[in-house]
Amino acid sequence: DTRIGISLTINGEARQLQVAPWTTLLDLLREELDLTGSKKGCDHGQCGACTVLVDGVRINSCLALAVMKDGAAITTVEGLAGLANRGAGSDGLHPIQEAFIEHDAFQCGYCTPGQLCSSIGMMNEGHAHTRDEIREAMSGNICRCGAYTNIVDAIEDVMQ
Ligand code: FES
Repeated sequence: DTRIGISLTINGEARQLQVAPWTTLLDLLREELDLTGSKKGCDHGQCGACTVLVDGVRINSCLALAVMKDGAAITTVEGLAGLANRGAGSDGLHPIQEAFIEHDAFQCGYCTPGQLCSSIGMMNEGHAHTRDEIREAMSGNICRCGAYTNIVDAIEDVMQ
């Protein structure tokens, strides 16, 4: 067996996993752990639908081998509410999720998990402030419905 043992904290839960060396983080999440919120749009790092947070940094999980993330803390869309409420004793949504709802920042919703994770990663980076900077910083997340204006509205709302 060519599987390799790794440790990941996934949405706050410590997991010991055996993974094939060629398994991407996205395939591990979706196909082995049943966390299907992260989407496979292109599988080539071009659409952003697979964006997750690794130690708070946004990445395209289709481009990362799971074994390369040994020891990391992974947050997917399924864990965003927990991320927002850690220690607060509440089960509400993350503020960015609330803002996406309030601003109708999705239509079909396929890109939304990636848009949400990418938004949080972008805010963690702290470089984007104006609408143009937000738009540029979110340019790796494609929305085929064209909900960009509302997505930027939602992000701006949370950043204020
Ligand atoms: Fe990873 Fe498109 S599925 S960037």
